[in-house]
Amino acid sequence: MFSKLLCRQVVNHGFRLTTRAASASTQKKPVVERKPDVKYQKLFINNEFVDSSNRSTFEVINPATGDVIAEVADGSEKDVDKAVKAAKDAFRLGSEWRRMDPAARGALLYKLADLIERDRAYIAALETYNNGKPFKDSYNVDIPHSIAVLRYYAGWPDKMNGKVLPISGDFFAYTRREPIGIVGQIIPWNFPLILLCWKIGPSVATGCTTVIKLDEHTPLTGLYTAKLIAEAGFPPGVINILSGDGPHCGGSIVRHPDVAKVAFTGSTQVGKIIGAEAAKMVKRTTLELGGKSPNIVFADCDLDTAVEMSHFALFFNQGQCCCAGSRTYVEEKIYDEFVQRSVERTKQRKVGDPFDESTEQGPQISHEQMDKILDLIDSGKRAGAKLLVGGERVGDKGFFVQPTVFCDVNDDHRIAREEIFGPVMQILKFKTTDEVIERANDTDYGLAASVFTKDLDKAIVVSNGLRAGSVWVNTYDNFDPVAPFGGFKQSGLGREKSEYSLDSYTETKCVTMKISQRNS
Ligand code: NAI
Ligand code: MG
Repeated sequence: MFSKLLCRQVVNHGFRLTTRAASASTQKKPVVERKPDVKYQKLFINNEFVDSSNRSTFEVINPATGDVIAEVADGSEKDVDKAVKAAKDAFRLGSEWRRMDPAARGALLYKLADLIERDRAYIAALETYNNGKPFKDSYNVDIPHSIAVLRYYAGWPDKMNGKVLPISGDFFAYTRREPIGIVGQIIPWNFPLILLCWKIGPSVATGCTTVIKLDEHTPLTGLYTAKLIAEAGFPPGVINILSGDGPHCGGSIVRHPDVAKVAFTGSTQVGKIIGAEAAKMVKRTTLELGGKSPNIVFADCDLDTAVEMSHFALFFNQGQCCCAGSRTYVEEKIYDEFVQRSVERTKQRKVGDPFDESTEQGPQISHEQMDKILDLIDSGKRAGAKLLVGGERVGDKGFFVQPTVFCDVNDDHRIAREEIFGPVMQILKFKTTDEVIERANDTDYGLAASVFTKDLDKAIVVSNGLRAGSVWVNTYDNFDPVAPFGGFKQSGLGREKSEYSLDSYTETKCVTMKISQRNS
């Protein structure tokens, strides 16, 4: 869906929203608040906003300016305990939540989606203010997609069917898909509202209760959504939302004995820590981690589309996408032309104030991320890759990085192996189909991949050969709610979105009854 929305926008064809968020598209041009009022800065536990137990706070920065824009409650282990207790009470047998009709749970998700739609302009402004992504992306991609995801999950609660089993003997047996219990959900900063909705959706649809930790860089839209959760009428304790740091607040959620499952999106490094902690208590995990996704461009592609989509695949969201197409493999025959056209496109990329309508690229999320990107650019230069455009910080205010393109990149360069998470494109040359499949798969990651070709046979052969959870053909970043998303190898465990996400929020129970009366 991002591709549908964004690429049309990029080539000035306008954009259309997917059907589930269609009503959002009918709104008039929004009045943009460039400094939105930050209304909620406390922890959301039991449907109330509360200070952290030790009253400590942390600063939230606007990455476009470096200015402090809020002081947000810093959730501690004690606060996690309190939130888990609230989630446990909400989940106890006989509670309002456990007795609620499944369709009524769905109705709450519809209501939450409607409230986000009502406040779309404000939430989009808050997302841009806090994350730095262009307002037109927040408004046209992040908010509509979040709404679409909630509406998708709203249809699920009364469709979580079990089965009647053809069991032997005088027995009647059936399965039930029961909620796994209290879940802990930890999200990062690159898509704060979207990833919050990816987590809330399956948790509510399956009847779980949850404690969510927002990222310490970007807690503002999540805390505002907390207010909408109370307004929608969710019973207290069903969704608790904390702001706080990773190791203490996030770690306390992971280690809490009453948390049955952890869903995490973030770095592979932290995913491994969480997986190891969870394994000690045989907790279930869903891990959506890093990537170094190959984007394969064959000579028989539509070159206009391939250049534009490859640009989008890498540069969308300031390059801060786990599935960014960050190894662009181009067939030898069109390599020079592709490189030249990609450089021209990149030179046109407009970097600047994320609230300006013409801006395509805002700042990176933090000084730390900017430094990581600049360091990797430096390593590319030193390793002998050819820097064709960009390569530097933009100005000295905020955390902006020039859109950057390297060609003549080798598979063993750090910039071809490590996740850069920034606006830095790597172009590599290949000759044959077998060769490029092997090289594309030569990575610890396996999140996404793409193929550009007009040859259907080739598209299928290459798609089947790629070891990645999502493969896009002649497109990129299609994120419809019905499509599963997740990684092979060290890109993660399990799937998010779609019906595939639901199994990891349920336990299957088999009930077997003895039948004493028989039809003769
Ligand atoms: P991170 O993985 O440290 O942070 C993601 C989330 O995990 C945050 O909410 C953080 O507070 C939490 N966290 C951190 N340590 C934790 C711990 N020990 N226990 C529980 N929760 C913990 O990612 P970070 O440091 O912001 O970025 C580092 C790199 O990770 C980026 O440069 C990028 O390569 C990758 N990344 C990948 C993302 C994705 O979408 N898969 C999103 C963000 C970052
Ligand atoms: Mg970290």
